[in-house]
Amino acid sequence: MFDAIFKNLHAVTLADAHGLGIIKNAAIGVQNGAIAFIGTENDLPGSSVYIFDQKGAWVTPALIDCHTHLIYAGTRVHEHQRRLSGESYESMAASGGGILSTVSATRAASEDELEQNALARIKSLFQDGVAAFEIKSGYGLDKKSEEKMLRVATKLQEGLGLKIQRTFLGAHAIPPEFSGRGDDYIDHLCAEILPHLHALGLIDAVDAFCEKMAFSTTQVEKLFKTAQHLKLPVKIHAEQRSLIGASKMAARFKPLSCDHVEYCDEETVQAMAECGTVATLLPCAYYTLREKIKPPVDLFKKHGVPMAVATDHNPGTSPVLSLRLAMNMACVLFGLSAEESLRGATINAARALGWQKTLGSLEAGKDAQLAFWNVNDPLEIIYTLGGKLCSGLYVSGNYHDFTA
Ligand code: NIG
Ligand code: FE
Repeated sequence: MFDAIFKNLHAVTLADAHGLGIIKNAAIGVQNGAIAFIGTENDLPGSSVYIFDQKGAWVTPALIDCHTHLIYAGTRVHEHQRRLSGESYESMAASGGGILSTVSATRAASEDELEQNALARIKSLFQDGVAAFEIKSGYGLDKKSEEKMLRVATKLQEGLGLKIQRTFLGAHAIPPEFSGRGDDYIDHLCAEILPHLHALGLIDAVDAFCEKMAFSTTQVEKLFKTAQHLKLPVKIHAEQRSLIGASKMAARFKPLSCDHVEYCDEETVQAMAECGTVATLLPCAYYTLREKIKPPVDLFKKHGVPMAVATDHNPGTSPVLSLRLAMNMACVLFGLSAEESLRGATINAARALGWQKTLGSLEAGKDAQLAFWNVNDPLEIIYTLGGKLCSGLYVSGNYHDFTA
C-alpha cells in the first residue's frame, strides 16, 4: 500500500500551531510522492517493498530557503574588505559597487555559467537539509538578462526535481541605462519586461527593493498594481535600512511576505498582521552589514505575524550557504527560540511562499519532502554551527544519502 516506508526514527512534525509536534518511535509511509501515514511505528498499517531503516535518526520536514538571490556571476569579495574598513553598503553602491557590479558580471555571463554557479550553491544547501528554494532575478535589469536568470531558475527546477519559486526582482536597482530615471525604469518594467516574462511563464511572484537607496513606495506600488493585474503574488524587501512605509504600502496587496523588516514599528507590524503576511527574517544580511537595529520580534509575536528565516544568499550582503547558520543567528542575534527558528525554516517558510498546503510540516497528504538528521536532540540542528548533521534527504521519490 506504500511506495516507501521510513522506520526506526523520531519525528518532528511541526503539524500543530505551536511546538515541535514530536513523535518518538515513528514511521512514515509514502504513496505517490505524498505522506500517506505518519505516526508511531506500532500503528503503521500493512507493509511494503521499500523500507528505509533510519537507525534511530530524527526526521523533520525538509528545510525551505524562502529568500535567496542564488543566481549570479562574480563575487563581491573586495567589498568585504571595504566594509571591514568601515565603508557602508550605501556608499559602495553609490560608487558603482553593490548590486550594479553584480549586474555587470551577470549580464556578461552565459546561461550555462550561471546555471553551474547556482547548482554548486544549491548543492551546499541541499546537503545541509534544504530541498525547496525561492530564487530571485534582479541582477539582469534588462529584458534579455532578466529572462536569462529566470530561464536558469526554471532549468534548475526541472533538472533537480526540487521545488523552486521564481521571483521577478527587476526592481532591485536602477540599471545604468536608466540612471537618474527611476520612474521611467519602473514604467519600463510595468509596460515591457514584466508582461513579457510573465507571458513566457517564467515568473511565480514579484518582489521589489523598497528603500531610500532603491525604489520609493510610490514606484513599488505602481509595479505591484501591474503584478496584481497579472494575478502574480507580491513580496517586498522592506524596512531593511530605514522606515519608509514599505510594508504598510505592500499590505494593501496582501503580500506573501515582507522581508528584512528590521526597522518596522508597531503600526507597521499591525498592518502586516491584518493582511496576514509573513515576516521573513534575514539575520545573515543583518550580520554582514553590521546593522544595529533588530527586527521587532516581540511585536511580531504580540500581533501574531508568523516569522520565517532564510539565508538571503547573495554576493553582497549575505554570502552564506547554510540555512542552519541563519537559523542559529535568528536565535542568537534576534532572540528567537530554537523551536521558532525551526518553524521559521519549515512551516513558516512554506507560508512565505504560499506553499503551506503542500510543504513545511509532516502531515498526511503533504508532499513527502523529508530531512534526516544524525542528532540526539532535534534542536542540535540549530545549536550546532557547521558539521555534517544531515544524513539524507527524501525528495520527489528519491532518497539522497549523505553519509557516504
Ligand atoms: O536582500 N537589499 C537588497 N537586496 C539584497 C542584496 C543584494 C546585493 O547586495 O547584491 C539583500 O540584502
Ligand atoms: Fe534579498
